[in-house]
Amino acid sequence: MALSRRARPRRYLMCPPAHFDVTYAINPWMDPAKPVDTPLALAQWEQLRALYRGLGHTVDQIEPRPGLPDMVFTANGATVVDGRVFGARFAHTEREPEAEEHLEWFAAHGLAHLHVPVHINEGEGDFAVTRSCLLAGRGFRTNPLAHGEAQEYFGRPVIGLELVDPRFYHLDLALAVLDDSADEVAYYPAAFSPGSREVLRRLFPHALIATEDDALAFGLNAVSDGHHVVLPQAAAGLYGPLRERGFEPVGVDLSELHKGGGSVKCCSLELRL
Ligand code: ARG
Repeated sequence: MALSRRARPRRYLMCPPAHFDVTYAINPWMDPAKPVDTPLALAQWEQLRALYRGLGHTVDQIEPRPGLPDMVFTANGATVVDGRVFGARFAHTEREPEAEEHLEWFAAHGLAHLHVPVHINEGEGDFAVTRSCLLAGRGFRTNPLAHGEAQEYFGRPVIGLELVDPRFYHLDLALAVLDDSADEVAYYPAAFSPGSREVLRRLFPHALIATEDDALAFGLNAVSDGHHVVLPQAAAGLYGPLRERGFEPVGVDLSELHKGGGSVKCCSLELRL
């Protein structure tokens, strides 16, 4: 039986991909030899922004900086829960300056609780917020010590999950929170170590299990407001299972940003104020 779902208005921080490009390769999706159509990336991104606004959400913007081609992926810039900002610290030097750009944005926008992290963590790329905890990825980017650091800062339990497939180097490529008021998630089990898979099975026995094809189409790089689930349109296999659960899938085409190794969620940092 389909549940009736309720959307909650959200606030997202986004960055226009005005300088988006693939000039280095820090994940298996990036190939600097392949051309990138920056105007197309921008047009696709604008559709995502229009979609959020059409759904009644608020979109804030951070200024893109030349020389930071991955800045469009704002989800990596911080984790914001209860109005508290846990800053990022990037694993690769190419992206390092993005952390400071984000901290400056938060300071300029009146967020007083700012934590400059000690350990490497790539924001919401590896931290997912559910009702009862934070799920935290490790294995490729985020240092496991950042999990404890985040737990101490937010006062919420942090559950560490080991990522094992380099194609899913961030947690938000392997797992999506569908309903953050009820601990409902979707994930691709093979992206996780056997022990972490077991943890997910215990915590979320009713989770939506994604196929490899849908995970490779970045179908788990989705953003949910509790009712609408915005996801890459190519992840067609997820539409039916989402509808069965009472969600409304909304497909978008972010194919140009896929070349950087990201999609919907990567472009949307949720500001939980
Ligand atoms: N090129 C970026 C990187 O490899 C993509 C980041 C994608 N963001 C995400 N939240 N998964 O760091």
